[in-house]
Amino acid sequence: MILNLAWLIITYVLCSVPFGVFITRAVCGLDPREHGSRNIGATNVARLCGARYGVAVLALDLLKGFFCVWVATTFNDGWLYLSLCALAAVLGHMYSCFLSGRGGKGFATTIGGFLALAPLTTVLSVALCIAVIVLSGFVSLGALMFGAALPVLLLLGGNVAFVPAALVAMLFLYWKHRDNIERLARGQENPWRRKKGDSD
Ligand code: G3P
Repeated sequence: MILNLAWLIITYVLCSVPFGVFITRAVCGLDPREHGSRNIGATNVARLCGARYGVAVLALDLLKGFFCVWVATTFNDGWLYLSLCALAAVLGHMYSCFLSGRGGKGFATTIGGFLALAPLTTVLSVALCIAVIVLSGFVSLGALMFGAALPVLLLLGGNVAFVPAALVAMLFLYWKHRDNIERLARGQENPWRRKKGDSD
């Protein structure tokens, strides 16, 4: 009981670590919360510092989610506990205790958390998401596709136990992407690359 509760809290704290802020500050001396889309995630880091640093942040944000949920699977195989752990990871990134409750949009950390729970379904959802990003040029649209595909594919694959957690993660993901959704609807979404001449 104590271990389960402690690991949930540790998951929240570890997944609160804002790699995007650290890397952007260290590499280009900027705070991603004040530039570009003002998000701390990989897409904005790529925009501000270059693709390779975006990939680094993507990997770290994904790995923190994967690591925390994977560790949980080694001592508890209950679907409810593992679902709570995945959500603690996602919420840690989105509402970071190191950023006064603010944070990122949770895309990479959601991928990482669910990779530990349902690897095949998560990989399929990521494949759909990559197709959307390649076709549209917008990472946010891919993230929205991922959020919607995950619960549907879990259901179709018979992995019903994790559907509620995937739905909750999707709701938070969509809420965090509400500005992107508005920009997409207006045809004004930011590409991942900063356009020449853009100051912010
Ligand atoms: O997950 C973040 C991505 O979907 C959108 O990032 O910086 O374009 O708002 P950004």
